[in-house]
Amino acid sequence: MTQTDQYTLLRGRILDFHAAPQDETDTEAYRYIEDGAILLAGGKIKATGAFAEIVALAPDASITDHRPNLLMAGFIDTHVHFPQVQVIASWGAQLLDWLNSYTFPEETRFADPAHGAAMAGQFLDLLTCHGTTTAVAYCSVHPASVDAYFTEAAQRNMCMIGGKVMMDRNAPEALTDTPQSSYDDSKALIAKWHGKGRAHYAITPRFAITSTPEQLEIAGALVTEHPDCFVQTHLSENHDEIAYTAELYPDAPDYLGVYENYGLLTPKMLLGHSIHLTSREIDVLAETRAKPVFCPTSNLFLGSGLFDDAGLRGRGIQNAIATDIGAGTSYSMLQTLNEGYKVLQLQNQKLHPLRAFHWITRGNAEVLGLADRIGTLANGSDADIVVLNARATPAMALRMQRAQTLSEELFILQMLGDDRAIEETYVAGVPQKRDHAGARPEAVQAALQLA
Ligand code: GUN
Ligand code: ZN
Repeated sequence: MTQTDQYTLLRGRILDFHAAPQDETDTEAYRYIEDGAILLAGGKIKATGAFAEIVALAPDASITDHRPNLLMAGFIDTHVHFPQVQVIASWGAQLLDWLNSYTFPEETRFADPAHGAAMAGQFLDLLTCHGTTTAVAYCSVHPASVDAYFTEAAQRNMCMIGGKVMMDRNAPEALTDTPQSSYDDSKALIAKWHGKGRAHYAITPRFAITSTPEQLEIAGALVTEHPDCFVQTHLSENHDEIAYTAELYPDAPDYLGVYENYGLLTPKMLLGHSIHLTSREIDVLAETRAKPVFCPTSNLFLGSGLFDDAGLRGRGIQNAIATDIGAGTSYSMLQTLNEGYKVLQLQNQKLHPLRAFHWITRGNAEVLGLADRIGTLANGSDADIVVLNARATPAMALRMQRAQTLSEELFILQMLGDDRAIEETYVAGVPQKRDHAGARPEAVQAALQLA
């Protein structure tokens, strides 16, 4: 095999972001190429540009023609719970009842490593079917669930972030650890997985309610000992949750102050929800550069509240966007943008489709500090790429007949798109969608057996 035999060229319409565009006049912020190509080799992007130029670089490359579809960096989901794949769409409760009635009982099933392994495979297949190539996940309290998650991710060569939930109170006994065991288990999992292939570890105290002060203290020690790991938790999602947290931590100035007091706030900290914030908490976010994460489908589903995107951005706080499965109601980052648009509408804030697609690609990658690896189509990036079809359903095709601009097409994808609009998803250059060559037969088999 010659050198050029190993090159693959994807042809299609290309959209890539350099910064967050406010609208389509902000042409410095993105590049759009009508007849474009991406050259791949060894799981990396070697070049992106006009088809004529790129094909000249590697005349013998094998060409996959995706025209007239759009090629973009793979989507990034910055807050999701993999043990909740069978919790999604559970009726009638707000946060604390929802956790006690549905979520905690379900997560106890992950004590069985075989169950964790089966769910992890299903979860990752669902992500790639929906165009998501990187996610930041909460695993369950059981270390075996973390092993399952990273093992399945490694099989797919996916860049995934995750960690064992630390929780030592206010949950069923079968779902609690202790400060010491949570420290020991997290430490061992960091040694085993962090930096292995494309895996990154996230130190994961679930939230203030399910951790004693002793556990948050030991979580703070982990953060100090492993400054290159991510940290994730929940913040100010729901009024009852905030009131209960104040009862449990009467000396803290506010909810964020609990995490602050234990040294958890760093630029690598992801704070799911961050809805009902005081002005002091907003000051602390701006100072520490900890990152709020907007979870629109979840916030609407649980009736939690409206995330103040413009207010936080106005203070220079970079935020991320995510599904929050299983309180979130869709694996699709397109549907997440759809609901996000509506949450912002309710506050008279705007989400332009170009900014929206930047958010789920480069924007989320920047929040994670990984934009040199994922979230763009820049030379040298990992070849995580999504192929989008804005005519995927009859309703979309009909609407597209009237679309005249790229922004209109993107908005149709944002409002009407889901996994049907994902024509293909490449992870490190390998196509993932089940009905294509390259699908893993064992994953299909597992799905059939579970059905
Ligand atoms: N707060 C603590 N745990 C959870 C969870 O699993 N989902 C959501 N939405 N909020 C939480
Ligand atoms: Zn969550």
